[in-house]
Amino acid sequence: MSALCGCRATAISFVGRRAYLRVSTTSLRIRNLSSPMANVNRRVPDADQYFPLNDPPIGTAFPEDIFPQNAKLPLLFQPLTLRDVTFKNRIWVSPMCQYSSDNGHATDWHVVHIGGFATRGAGAICMEATAVVPEGRISPEDAGLWTDSQMEPLKRIVKFAHAHGTLIGIQLSHAGRKASTLAPWVHSKPGGTYRANTWTARKDEGGWPDEVYGPSDVPFSKDYPKPKAMDEQHLQYVEDAFVKAVERCKEIGFDFIELHGAHGYLLHEFVSPLSNLRTDAYGGSLENRLRFPLRIIARCRETWSKPLFVRISATDWAEGPEQGPDGEWKQWGIEQSKLFVGEMKKLGVDLVDCSTGGNWVQQKITVGPGYQVPFAEALKKAYPDYPIGAVGLITDPEQAESYLRDRKADVVFLARELLRTPHWPLFAARKLGAAVKPACQYERAFADLLVPSATNA
Ligand SMILES: Cc1cc2nc3c(=O)[nH]c(=O)nc-3n(C[C@H](O)[C@H](O)[C@H](O)COP(=O)(O)O)c2cc1C
Repeated sequence: MSALCGCRATAISFVGRRAYLRVSTTSLRIRNLSSPMANVNRRVPDADQYFPLNDPPIGTAFPEDIFPQNAKLPLLFQPLTLRDVTFKNRIWVSPMCQYSSDNGHATDWHVVHIGGFATRGAGAICMEATAVVPEGRISPEDAGLWTDSQMEPLKRIVKFAHAHGTLIGIQLSHAGRKASTLAPWVHSKPGGTYRANTWTARKDEGGWPDEVYGPSDVPFSKDYPKPKAMDEQHLQYVEDAFVKAVERCKEIGFDFIELHGAHGYLLHEFVSPLSNLRTDAYGGSLENRLRFPLRIIARCRETWSKPLFVRISATDWAEGPEQGPDGEWKQWGIEQSKLFVGEMKKLGVDLVDCSTGGNWVQQKITVGPGYQVPFAEALKKAYPDYPIGAVGLITDPEQAESYLRDRKADVVFLARELLRTPHWPLFAARKLGAAVKPACQYERAFADLLVPSATNA
């Protein structure tokens, strides 16, 4: 029995007699409905628990020979292959800190949170910023992968995502000088009823303000811890910690890794002249500022054979130009980002996830729909065949589709809109006229996506 037949039989039993009649009058081939296997609720093979098999996987476009409306498949639902890994669609979950880990260990919150995306059609899920050393956490409740016991709860999540046909990766991170801070809802309460007078998490709040490290001893702002400048030994320690975390990712079974080089965290701090004031081989010239991040990227690449992504901030959004008339780089911006990405490309990074900001406390961002997309587009123009992800206020399916169609990006990462609307990929399919697989258990809520139609209008 073909895979699709199995799923169509399921659809019919959920949708009922009307749908059955409709399918049968379209003279589509319904194979083996009378075979003894037709009414078996098939299970995911090799899963630890019983899960109904989604075939094709949730969020995958149905084949066009049965669903003619998919002949003109929106780019959002076209697969993308990086190395040997094929992503079923191009709507990916952006990494989102949950400030909910128990000494760096994922909990059942993460099972439910990530599991919700795994069952609702996202093409890939990137788990939140996960610190490679304890003092590299943003907040005391951040995720971590600095010790073996942190692998077990992540394995459970990865297995669940895989059982539901969804690829899952993790963002490895070091918060640099922005470590030891309060979770947002600890810092300020709804309704303005409370606002802490600093972002710094003190020791009695679970923080480590005296053990915060960055390229230089310059704090992000007066509300943040004063970092210590990393010496060569400390650079090596952090680099080795990244590699060790990558080794753990292999054992856990992640499908891809994203290195966090954005938002004013350690790697971004090194590349930007605003946060890197070093006078040694790791500061000053662009080549020197890129040296440590590229060292980490190269070591991770050597250790990891599956897809490797890097998230960058393509600008600091600081006042003034990126480069002065004397040729000196004044702040981090798109021109240096292009050169940085060129180096990553040489090292074998598979995709750059293009974000912005987070390194300059007085940043002025003009926020609006797709406000970071011009930066992704600039990278695409510089490297037309190189995979680039766009992120930031992408909320509407037609908007998202236009970025792919206009070759401004190859995939879209969504964060807040997916928190509000976890079924966004299926809503996008509906709006764009594509037939895409919902989870078997949710098919009754998306019956329209299960019906073949002549057009995708
Ligand atoms: C709750 C929350 C947590 C976030 N945590 C991370 C993170 O761990 N790593 C990261 O690179 N970005 C993080 N971000 C930023 C998002 O990944 C994304 O880049 C940003 O929210 C803009 O996309 P959006 O407009 O779709 O929300 C976070 C955003 C939110 C809302």
